Amino acid sequence: MLLEESVCLVTGASRGIGASIATRFAEEGATVYANARSEGSLDALCESNAGRRKGTIVPVYFDVCDAAGQKAAIMQIKKEQGRLDVLVNNAGIMKDSLIGMIDRSTVQATFETNVFSAIELMQLATKLMFRQGSGSVINMSSLVGVNGNRGQAVYAASKGAVISLTKAAAKELAPKGIRVNAVAPGMIDTDLFRSAGEEAVERFSSCIGMGRVGAPEDVADVCVFLASDLSRYVTGQVIGVDGSALM
Ligand SMILES: NC(=O)c1ccc[n+]([C@@H]2O[C@H](COP(=O)([O-])OP(=O)(O)OC[C@H]3O[C@@H](n4cnc5c(N)ncnc54)[C@H](OP(=O)(O)O)[C@@H]3O)[C@@H](O)[C@H]2O)c1
Repeated sequence: MLLEESVCLVTGASRGIGASIATRFAEEGATVYANARSEGSLDALCESNAGRRKGTIVPVYFDVCDAAGQKAAIMQIKKEQGRLDVLVNNAGIMKDSLIGMIDRSTVQATFETNVFSAIELMQLATKLMFRQGSGSVINMSSLVGVNGNRGQAVYAASKGAVISLTKAAAKELAPKGIRVNAVAPGMIDTDLFRSAGEEAVERFSSCIGMGRVGAPEDVADVCVFLASDLSRYVTGQVIGVDGSALM
């Protein structure tokens, strides 16, 4: 088991990639604080396969954009566990708009959820990690943040910011024993991907070299690697999980 005795916080774990990361971490023996914003939305995740897992999943409800909620969650982890080994900034939103149609509220909501929350949670989490002299922060970027995509200027800019944040933080935190990496998924079969609409899903899917859309577990397994000691000398990297998607 790769994450035995690790304490992890995974944001946006009510569904999609985040739910899969929380499940895989618990299978590897971790105590996982799984975050969601709607009370009760983690019930199914906590109950599913509870007996078969070696680790545990503990729900922590807060909106990642709410500073007080972030702080309360980190304080709860500190009180209950006294440490935090892994932070996965996974929660994210995507709203497509062509240039000329972009409104300020979309930019604001996208950056608050995808970027500001990652910066703020990283600050809080690394306070605990400093004391341990170790930790791993995993930021969810996107292939769109690396390559850009038509109609996705705002989302691409937010995911590009996540990459810059990761690289800068990795440099700053390496002397403290804290690693910071980003994952850049391509097209992964979740609600977010399907929200692009049937025509777009078909068009995107035909651009994948490996001939299939990714599964949330494909991303979760890379997160297990980045969370574990297997990646102990890996920091400041952006790991693509895209089955050779062309974009
Ligand atoms: N699927 C893809 O193809 C793909 C590709 C590249 C990158 N990504 C990235 O991977 C991450 C996960 O995406 P996904 O495909 O799993 O999306 P998803 O199925 O839409 O799930 C997004 C998750 O984020 C949560 N969330 C959103 N805003 C939140 C907030 N303010 N506070 C707390 N939780 C919040 C959602 O919670 P609710 O249930 O409350 O809405 C949900 O659990 C995102 O950062 C996304 O940008 C996805």
